[in-house]
Amino acid sequence: MKKGLIYEGMVESVDFPNKGCVRVVSDEPEDNGEKVVVKNAIPGQKIRFMVNKKRGGKCEGRFLEAIEKSPIETAERCQYFGVCGGCTYQSVAYEEQLKIKCKQIEDILSEVITGDFGFEGILGSPVHTAYRNKMEFSFGDEEKGGELALGLHKRNSMYDIVTVDGCKIVDEDYSKILSCVYEYFKAKDIPYFHKTTHEGYLRHLLVRKAVKTKQILVDVVTSTQLHMDMSELAEKLSKLELDGEIVGFLHTFNDSIADVVKNEKTEIVFGRDYIEEELLGLTFKISAFSFFQTNSLGAEVLYSKARDYVGTTKDKVVFDLYSGTGTIAQMLAPVAKKVIGVEIVEEAVEAAKENAILNGLSNCEFIADDVLKALDNIADKPDIIVLDPPRDGIHPKALEKIIDYGVKNMVYISCKPTSLARDLVVLQERGYKVVKSCCVDMFPGTYHCESMVLLQRENS
Ligand SMILES: C[S@@+](CC[C@H](N)C(=O)[O-])C[C@H]1O[C@@H](n2cnc3c(N)ncnc32)[C@H](O)[C@@H]1O
Repeated sequence: MKKGLIYEGMVESVDFPNKGCVRVVSDEPEDNGEKVVVKNAIPGQKIRFMVNKKRGGKCEGRFLEAIEKSPIETAERCQYFGVCGGCTYQSVAYEEQLKIKCKQIEDILSEVITGDFGFEGILGSPVHTAYRNKMEFSFGDEEKGGELALGLHKRNSMYDIVTVDGCKIVDEDYSKILSCVYEYFKAKDIPYFHKTTHEGYLRHLLVRKAVKTKQILVDVVTSTQLHMDMSELAEKLSKLELDGEIVGFLHTFNDSIADVVKNEKTEIVFGRDYIEEELLGLTFKISAFSFFQTNSLGAEVLYSKARDYVGTTKDKVVFDLYSGTGTIAQMLAPVAKKVIGVEIVEEAVEAAKENAILNGLSNCEFIADDVLKALDNIADKPDIIVLDPPRDGIHPKALEKIIDYGVKNMVYISCKPTSLARDLVVLQERGYKVVKSCCVDMFPGTYHCESMVLLQRENS
């Protein structure tokens, strides 16, 4: 097979996260039956692809088009599906999406776990569309030099943006807010911040909407290269007919070169700088930049399962490491002796402290620090540890410190099963055994999925 040439093939399976395993169908006997990896393909599709990498006898291809639909593609798709980089499995029936994710995670775990790991399968999200409570839209253009766009990155593109009014993973309020902000800046011909030249003004639009309280927070992120009064836009936003209520409109300034939403300074244009969400009977204040699970109803499923894996916390000291706004800590606090949360984002820790007071919990302590450093300064010893690190998993030195506590039970929640698998190798070498495991789908339509394991110290 040759680089740059176009081939056809059948997608036989998809490895995590989105690597389609394709068997080439060709009249050329030497190509027919060859195996190629093509990202974003769906099992059962017949596709056309271009070979774009060849290394060590292995080929990778770039997806061009589906020539034949897969039998599992029976779900509705939005008009941007395939162009927008947000969703991979939107066209796949939800039950089938769950089967794909479940099998991928079971395979990853079985590669590193020795013996039975009590795999309990996958729990689905209670809602499959309009499930997100947060979106970060980017300003840009659809193609180089094109007109202003506000939306999500195009698939496989660092630069091009597709304006996604009508996106299916958020409700209509997001589309109305997006259109209002987009039309406003487009009419005024305000330039977006170019990632290559670092010139321009408009960077991101962040929208958070609580599912239970319907409170909405809108934040326009810009550079400081222009000075705009946002009160006219504020007025337009406040006149929108929404299902929820905009309780705060913020203007954040970010001059950093990195293409991330970074808070260098935030002004409140109107209202306040947080929304409140309810999970499992507890209330949480969420600010613009604190981590909070993006699917509120899915989070209730995830946290209920975590509570089940943790078991009784009565009179125990629990560590909630990588605690975000303190959701897990507070859910476990009511009968525990004490819960200590550690989180690196100060704003999230402040919110966690306020949330604990709001929920009438006096036995929670939250520390703003890197887990790696914080563990050296905590006097208490844990009975149970809950771990919910970011995508890259746990820093190897932090993992050693965590293992050194020698607790009997640990629950490890992960949004990237390959990082979990890497850390499990170390945990097993150091005497822990996976006794139960499962996945919880919090991200329908996309290839993301949460995984969770209960670890027990073998000689305890
Ligand atoms: C997957 S989130 C989990 C948050 C929380 N458990 C929840 O469910 O809402 C991971 C969190 O780890 C935090 N974090 C990342 N690196 C960290 C570090 N080195 N030390 C402490 N916290 C960290 C992030 O800011 C984020 O809030």
